[in-house]
Amino acid sequence: MDFPDIRMRRLRSNDAMRRLVRETTLSVNDFVYPLFVRAGKGIKEPIKSMAGCFRFSADSVAAEAAEVASLRIPAVLLFGLPAKKDEIGSEAWAEPGAVQLAVREIKRAVPELVVITDVCLCAYTSTGHCGVIKEGKVDNDATCELLAKVALSHAQAGADMVAPSDMMDGRVKYIRECLEENGFCDVGIMSYAAKYASAFYGPFRDAAESAPAFGDRKGYQMAPPNARRAMAEIALDIEEGADIVMVKPALPYLDIIRRARERFDCPIAAYNVSGEYMMINTAAGAGLIDRQAAMLETLYSIKRAGADIIITYFAKDAAKLI
Ligand code: PBG
Repeated sequence: MDFPDIRMRRLRSNDAMRRLVRETTLSVNDFVYPLFVRAGKGIKEPIKSMAGCFRFSADSVAAEAAEVASLRIPAVLLFGLPAKKDEIGSEAWAEPGAVQLAVREIKRAVPELVVITDVCLCAYTSTGHCGVIKEGKVDNDATCELLAKVALSHAQAGADMVAPSDMMDGRVKYIRECLEENGFCDVGIMSYAAKYASAFYGPFRDAAESAPAFGDRKGYQMAPPNARRAMAEIALDIEEGADIVMVKPALPYLDIIRRARERFDCPIAAYNVSGEYMMINTAAGAGLIDRQAAMLETLYSIKRAGADIIITYFAKDAAKLI
């Protein structure tokens, strides 16, 4: 059969027909909304590099979390900024740090909201690197020990899940063992398993004040041209105990999301990162594209590629539309 018996346009004739044959659906249940927290009181400061995003103090973040929950978004992902940085990033596991306080406040205000915490040192170290430096290099195993302390402090504060984003080898195993030893067997791990050394983190590094003071992250984050290495990273993290694995960024790596979906059975998260968010905002602000349409098209593409979970700064805006 061919034309005119087959006319592809029949199934696109009106909105109801198009909805009827839609293959991919977006739901608020797919979203995780990132939040930035810092020490202090009554703070809600706009982040210059990321329009529509704010840094909150622990006392003011609960209201934001309540709004997220009222939109039926199931989870937030917390990032912290320390009051003071040092060589080993010790404020990352300090009690009471901004993240630990924020977790407590959110859990008190909206206990049903899933609270996930980013576990990394880059915002906390004076070097801006994701680990401790020994002989000019990020020391893998020493960093893993510290990351486990960070994860434990988040679990003690009441986090439902921790999300290591550092890309050290073996850190999922270190964290899982530490959580088990301390009785936190129900706290999950969402690992940034295939995290690439990407140019698209620019706006975030400004927001989290976490840009490296020297060099780059290519010694630990993945090389963009590699896909098979991503499968190896994901397989290792699952073996070490990750409950959810993440591909990051999302848009330049839709093929990685697709491959991961076909190969692994655990939930796959994709991080629609700050640079992807701001490309759309900036182009829309310049009158070049329709923000809402570009946002939805982007989120659909990530879902269609195979992501179960989308971490996105668009979560609230999208939740209001779908
Ligand atoms: C920290 C971290 C980064 C992001 C999440 N966790 C930045 C980086 O690795 O430099 C980026 C998120 C975004 O761009 O939205 N390791």
